[in-house]
Amino acid sequence: MRVASFEVQILDRLTDLPPFSPVLIKLLGTFGQTHISCSSLATLIEQDPVLAGSVLRLANSAVYSQREPVTSISGAINLIGIDRLRNVVTALSVSQMWKKLPSADGWSTADFNEHGLATAILAASLAEDIPNDFGEGAFLAGLLHDVGKLLIVMAVPNEYKEIVRTYEVEPGIKTWIQCEREVLNTDHAVLSALALEQWKVAEPIRRAVAWHHDPEPKHLSKVVALADKVANAIGYSVLPSTTVLVDTPPVEIIDRLVRPECTRISPADLLEHFRNEMDVIRGAPRTLRS
Ligand SMILES: [Fe+2]
Ligand SMILES: [Fe+2]
Repeated sequence: MRVASFEVQILDRLTDLPPFSPVLIKLLGTFGQTHISCSSLATLIEQDPVLAGSVLRLANSAVYSQREPVTSISGAINLIGIDRLRNVVTALSVSQMWKKLPSADGWSTADFNEHGLATAILAASLAEDIPNDFGEGAFLAGLLHDVGKLLIVMAVPNEYKEIVRTYEVEPGIKTWIQCEREVLNTDHAVLSALALEQWKVAEPIRRAVAWHHDPEPKHLSKVVALADKVANAIGYSVLPSTTVLVDTPPVEIIDRLVRPECTRISPADLLEHFRNEMDVIRGAPRTLRS
């Protein structure tokens, strides 16, 4: 059957991705827990000397401007915060893998990185105020929600070009995901969720990823979908020919998109937090930009 053949063909290419480090595999697993202790996160980071070095350099960087140098991972966790540091090290580890992959015709791996990171940061913030079933998984769901797109580009590049042609032939008529379904009989949201299953990511996160283009009320998918929409609209898009509202200030875009979902969120505060978090990641020794 065509459905099975494309899904199998694409998922087979998962083994061609650079292997996840043992630390990253364990980190992904921690997003299924409601709480991770300082000592268990420190133990995890200390297992990877390169990552541990990056964390110490981040803690001692201008972003935090400490008078006394931070010399231990637990000191860095105290300074940066458990959840925030877990998000940062996960984003850094994931982006390191993507950076090893080439870009292709009509596809930028660097833009893909940035889109995942922007969506992750926005989703983690929005999950605090928009009702959902698994807010602790928001960052990881945002970070990996579009990994299926990367798999499509890698596994079936000719079909990817056909999707781009179908999408661009009549602008605004079909959504990207409709074009994927037309060409592949499957879509990147389904493929992302299947990849996350193989990486043993918790079920509520996989579900949010699977439904991020058809979000379910009061579920994490709703948060990821909104974060995705905001990320695209303020210029962090992975799609070719996405309309970025260049003449509209980002704070107005956020106001327009987020207000209907939640009036408690201040667009200005959300934007400031988003920019700070992007700076933290970019200020880290391993930067996301190639
Ligand atoms: Fe998507
Ligand atoms: Fe997306």
